Amino acid sequence: MRVNLHIDGQPVAVPMGCTVAVALAISGNGVSRMSVRGQARAPLCGMGVCQECRVSVDGLRQLACQTQCTEGMQVERTL
Ligand code: FES
Repeated sequence: MRVNLHIDGQPVAVPMGCTVAVALAISGNGVSRMSVRGQARAPLCGMGVCQECRVSVDGLRQLACQTQCTEGMQVERTL
C-alpha cells in the first residue's frame, strides 16, 4: 500500500510505513532545510539526534526522521 502526501505542494506517493525523511529522498530532493548561512541540510543520523531533518508537517515543526507519513500530510521544507 502507498501513502499520498505533499512536499512543498508537490504530490508524492511513498510505501506505507515510511518516515518523512524517506519521503524527502523519494521526492528526488532530500533537502530538509537551509542553514543560517544558506547551506542545504538533509537528514543525517536518522535517529532523532542531529536535528538536521527539521521540517514543517501540517504546520508543526517535526523531525522528518521521527515522523511517519500519513495520508494527506502536508510537508514543507524550511528553506
Ligand atoms: S536525521 Fe538526525 S534528527 Fe532526523
